[in-house]
Amino acid sequence: MEKLWGGRFTKETDSLVKEFNDSLPFDKRLYQVDIKGSMVHAAMLGKQGILTDQEMKEILDGLGAILADLEAGRLTIEDGSYEDIHSFVEAKLIERIGDSGKKLHTGRSRNDQVALDMKLYIRSEIREMDGCLKHFLGTILRVMEENLDTFMPGFTHLQKAQPVTLAHHFGAYFEMFRRDREHLSSLYERMDTCPLGSGALAGTTYPLDRAFTARELGFIHPCRNSMDGVSDRDYLIEFLSALAVCQMHLSRFAEEVILWNSDEYRFVELDDAYSTGSSIMPQKKNPDIAELVRGKTGRVYGDLFALLTMMKGIPLAYDKDMQEDKEAAFDAIDTVLGDIRLFDGCVATMRFRKDVMERSAKRGFTNATDAADYLVGKGVPFRDAHGIIGRMVLDCIEKGKALDDLTLEEFQAFSPLFDSDIYEAIDLQACVEKRLTDGAPSRLSMEKEIQDCRAYLALPDIGRDLTGV
Ligand code: ARG
Repeated sequence: MEKLWGGRFTKETDSLVKEFNDSLPFDKRLYQVDIKGSMVHAAMLGKQGILTDQEMKEILDGLGAILADLEAGRLTIEDGSYEDIHSFVEAKLIERIGDSGKKLHTGRSRNDQVALDMKLYIRSEIREMDGCLKHFLGTILRVMEENLDTFMPGFTHLQKAQPVTLAHHFGAYFEMFRRDREHLSSLYERMDTCPLGSGALAGTTYPLDRAFTARELGFIHPCRNSMDGVSDRDYLIEFLSALAVCQMHLSRFAEEVILWNSDEYRFVELDDAYSTGSSIMPQKKNPDIAELVRGKTGRVYGDLFALLTMMKGIPLAYDKDMQEDKEAAFDAIDTVLGDIRLFDGCVATMRFRKDVMERSAKRGFTNATDAADYLVGKGVPFRDAHGIIGRMVLDCIEKGKALDDLTLEEFQAFSPLFDSDIYEAIDLQACVEKRLTDGAPSRLSMEKEIQDCRAYLALPDIGRDLTGV
């Protein structure tokens, strides 16, 4: 296969060198954005009179046909055939339209080409990821709406702390994934400069219209400095950081699903379609999906670190090290997208054992703070009330009782201030419903929160105003 740069060379590339150097096996997924960028570049060259109208038309038609053939499977990208996706597309164009195809690369380098391709690709993946996160948030919101009265223990230190509802618990995850979408959307907005026209590093002598190509490709303006244009991968690092945080959220959630699905908790039952069995132990129904989501977190963190480390020693401007950005970025994207989709399905089909959750909230003294607050209401300083209830809890543990099981006489043995209204004050439902502050688990507070979540999900999606890129 003829190379893009064969002229200066007299010997063939060593076959191992070729294999080591080629990026086609992994950058072939950039074909759509590569062709799109080339089409806009060619249209600009025509507009500027650098190509004749005829040449421009042949190139645009040729590129359009290559894209259509690739989409339809009439043309396939074979590993080893070309160095990278840019060489592949250009070679196919020349094969099909001859000499005018050789003019496409006028005023352009693969350095600004690949910088553009990656930026376009990441923007489209941000939109994809955002759609998946939004769908997942819809699943979480549905669980919230259906479980305003599903009482469960809230934990700190993995010890039962105070009663909450399932709606409230899931509301916390809604906030995490909402923030992930916000990271992505602010990054998308800031990825507004177009590297095309930076050339190899020092711009070009042709009268390019960089503002035109930037606009046509959905950017606000061309990047200011051409050396930065070809060597900036900051947005990629920011993107992988956002993915690492999102993956951390998924992993925390997965960890809870694994715990809740255990025989010790029995808060949830996973759907058969989202669980697997054991080859030896017939009774097993394992939460493999959640475990894999948790397990894949290391990969995504690793991808971020690979990129940070790859960039740290690169002198300006482009160096081949940067080709390594692709596998790290693609792996992180594939992993996180897969995780969100799978885990969304796992959560959507999970059955909640409301009775077990409620029973668990009733045990474990989750109403102890409310019992102390009751005494505070009768004028006891909180510190003293804390001490009294602490002694009662100790006594209950010895007797194997809950606070609610004590008789009024037993209550009064600890403080004469207890009256029959103590039972109402420490009732599970009352404990939750009294928590009326914004963001608290009471039905009233949660209804407000859910309203806000619904309004948030009705907002327009990231990049909705961009077409076809
Ligand atoms: N495959 C290369 C990459 O991914 C494309 C840029 C090649 N540029 C160069 N000067 N060799 O970075």
